[in-house]
Amino acid sequence: MPSATTAPTDQTVDANLHLLPQTRELHALHTIVRDRSVRREDFVLHAGRIIRLLIEAALGLLPYRERAVSTPVGQTYHGLARAGELCGVSIARAGESMEPELRAVSPGVPIGKILIQRDKVTKLPRVYHSLLPPDIGRRRVLLLDPMLATGGTALAAIRLLLEHGVDERDIVFVNFLAVPSGIAAVRARHPELPIVTSAIDQRLNEDAYMVPGIGDFGDRYFGTEVTAVTEVTEVTEVTDVTSAGRS
Ligand code: URA
Repeated sequence: MPSATTAPTDQTVDANLHLLPQTRELHALHTIVRDRSVRREDFVLHAGRIIRLLIEAALGLLPYRERAVSTPVGQTYHGLARAGELCGVSIARAGESMEPELRAVSPGVPIGKILIQRDKVTKLPRVYHSLLPPDIGRRRVLLLDPMLATGGTALAAIRLLLEHGVDERDIVFVNFLAVPSGIAAVRARHPELPIVTSAIDQRLNEDAYMVPGIGDFGDRYFGTEVTAVTEVTEVTEVTDVTSAGRS
């Protein structure tokens, strides 16, 4: 992206990192979704347009076989058809924002789900819940997570997929926004795993947000930003509210 605020992509792009073509339209879409004052419906609409581009790019990395069809003018068109079975796996919650665009291009596709959160004690990402297609080991997997920040969540998700028999070469990580350190963390363990992204930001700030950034993607997409701090009063005494206890 031709912007002074993003990282120079030629330093971070490797053979398996597929950065979307940095068109002016993509730059304009990023400008809308990164604007802190954008309305949520516009955030969802324009983020969805970028996600559709990412999904299409990811599909293009899958294996294809030759397929010839007859055209309406009686000629043979020597084309391609996607080979093998596909599924999506979204990392809750932000990854769920990518499901509608995958469904739009592949309506019957199975989509699994992984819930990963930071363990309160170890501080490491931990898989709390997963529900994957039972035959995932013979499918190609689009792993859906818009944010690649520290890389910890992506690594935990990839590890889970491998444990379920998915071949690393059959995973494409579909990502909206990354930072070089997150890419490097994934690369250190999975040098050949394809990553598709639409932009690479400079770095993480002290709160682990990407800068110049987009904020909390899941909160902005699903409308759960914290707008006011609710004061919680600690309950020190439980009052009996059964009928016997009422005056
Ligand atoms: N997750 C987000 O939603 N945003 C960031 O900037 C980093 C992680």
